[in-house]
Amino acid sequence: MALNLTFRQLKVFESAARHLSYTRAAEELHLSQPGVSMQIKQLEEAVGLPLFEQIGKKMHLTHAGREVFTYSQSIGHLLDEAEDVLEELKGGASGKLAISVATTASHFATRLLAAFSQRYENVTISLDITNRKSLQRQLSDNEPDMVIMGQPPEGVEVESEAFMVNPLVIIAPTNHPLATEQNIPLQHFEDEHFVVRESGSGTRGAIQRFFDEHNVSFHTGIEMSSNEAIKQAVEAGLGLGIVSIHTLELELETARLTILNVMDFPIQRHWHIVQRSGKRLSPIAQTFKQFVLDEAIKFIRLPEK
Ligand code: PGA
Repeated sequence: MALNLTFRQLKVFESAARHLSYTRAAEELHLSQPGVSMQIKQLEEAVGLPLFEQIGKKMHLTHAGREVFTYSQSIGHLLDEAEDVLEELKGGASGKLAISVATTASHFATRLLAAFSQRYENVTISLDITNRKSLQRQLSDNEPDMVIMGQPPEGVEVESEAFMVNPLVIIAPTNHPLATEQNIPLQHFEDEHFVVRESGSGTRGAIQRFFDEHNVSFHTGIEMSSNEAIKQAVEAGLGLGIVSIHTLELELETARLTILNVMDFPIQRHWHIVQRSGKRLSPIAQTFKQFVLDEAIKFIRLPEK
């Protein structure tokens, strides 16, 4: 069966499906509402199945609608990619760059992107900061050009390169009784209830694996989806925390938190720059990747011990 449909219809449908509203799609695409409804009717005719259904006052996607939505998003991303590559071929270091980074990497990644956009002024960057689970989903949907994360994802074919170490450490308030101890055995923390990141976070997964490998039981006291909140909770005395050292620049500099000297710590991880296998990187995306590989380390600011 040859599907006789147009990019235009898919684009209009994608917007209406995302908003579940013809009116909002019309606003987004600067079209009239009858214009939107006509494009979708033609698409439904081409597909041979209804794509939306109205239950009560609410619009829903039908099963076919959900399928077409997934494909229309992928086609949209590919078209954006093609546009970027062609734009680049016309010359100059310009174009659009969609970068997603793990929450924990945002501390250095924002500085890194600022430096990059100062060097390449004609580049428009969009930055999404989210946890590992959501980065995996984005990679499998081929959304960002590149992702900076703690460990390449499973279940999606990617190319990845490690570019910098990412040590995870145990943090405590500076006046904590263990703050001056050296080589504290890991077993000491068997009954501790840590303040840690949510499951789905890369940091959290690495902590769990580390304790499992060392046969030491690990208890979660409070889960938080933000490293900032964890640091504040630890400072307020809610418990010990485990975070990447790259989130601690300010707290170490101002001596608001301290890193405990624990045997087998830090948990040694690496930051990776990751892209979908086979993705055609635009020249500016390649330049960005090289910039990360060569210069990321400069954007870490930790006090000398
Ligand atoms: P997180 O990511 O912010 O999800 O913990 C860091 C990582 O990928 O290790």
